[in-house]
Amino acid sequence: MQLAGKVALITGAGSGIAKATAKLFAKQGAKVAALGRTKEELEDTVAEIQNDNGEAIPLVADISHPEEMQQVTQQIVDKWGRLDIVFANAGINGVWAPIEELAPEEWDKTINVNLKGTFLTVKYAVPYLKKQGGSVIITSSVNGTRIFSNTGATAYSCTKAAQVAFTKMVALELAKHRIRVNVICPGAIETNINESTQRRDLESVQEPVEFPEGHIPLTDGKPGTSEQVAQLVLFLASDASSHITGTEVWIDGGESLLKA
Ligand SMILES: NC(=O)c1ccc[n+]([C@@H]2O[C@H](COP(=O)([O-])OP(=O)(O)OC[C@H]3O[C@@H](n4cnc5c(N)ncnc54)[C@H](O)[C@@H]3O)[C@@H](O)[C@H]2O)c1
Repeated sequence: MQLAGKVALITGAGSGIAKATAKLFAKQGAKVAALGRTKEELEDTVAEIQNDNGEAIPLVADISHPEEMQQVTQQIVDKWGRLDIVFANAGINGVWAPIEELAPEEWDKTINVNLKGTFLTVKYAVPYLKKQGGSVIITSSVNGTRIFSNTGATAYSCTKAAQVAFTKMVALELAKHRIRVNVICPGAIETNINESTQRRDLESVQEPVEFPEGHIPLTDGKPGTSEQVAQLVLFLASDASSHITGTEVWIDGGESLLKA
């Protein structure tokens, strides 16, 4: 039980990477506050944890809304009296389009969810993390950190690059409170993320590059799984990584070494 007695906030917990992480954290003894946009999308995650004798509560909030985030963070502490781990993971791909076609409000939406949402998730948790120390893990991407050939995914990539800078700034600021802050950069992972992507007219701007068959070297092209990413998040959340802070870890089967 690597997380016995710990309380964890996990955003985007209704699906994908965060759902797998929520289940793994609960198996490792953590009490899980599973945050998502609707109660319905969290039902399965919470039920699966409870059926496995784990502890979880659903929290409904939009990570880009300050009042909602402040309120749900308070709810966690009211329920369990502490907060030790924050997995700031919820995000969207948003609109991928040529810069001339990308509307300012489309730009804002991606920045607000992915970057402001990360800021708010961490900001409201800090007063509680400070009480005993803790671990924050942020989900960035290979896009914006090692891969820049996804032309049109500009807003998305900017948010993912900024999350790395955010991690390093806050890691140093919070080190004296024994709060570690790290960032993971997944490559292609099989989840619902494509449902949050709107692609428009990308043919006109993308370079016609052809990568060799199996562009994920470690798996001959097969994407990673949410469960594999969850194992990395568990490591960064647990005391096994007690001297690691302010760093990024790529988890992509070598994809970003081949595609840049
Ligand atoms: N799947 C991939 O290939 C991949 C690669 C690199 C990075 N990522 C990153 O991983 C993270 C998780 O994505 P995923 O792949 O598990 O996809 P996903 O779509 O399955 O999960 C994202 C979750 O975030 C939630 N969410 C979105 N906007 C929200 C908001 N405003 N407030 C609260 N919740 C919100 C969604 O409802 C969903 O449950 C994202 O930050 C994404 O950018 C994914």
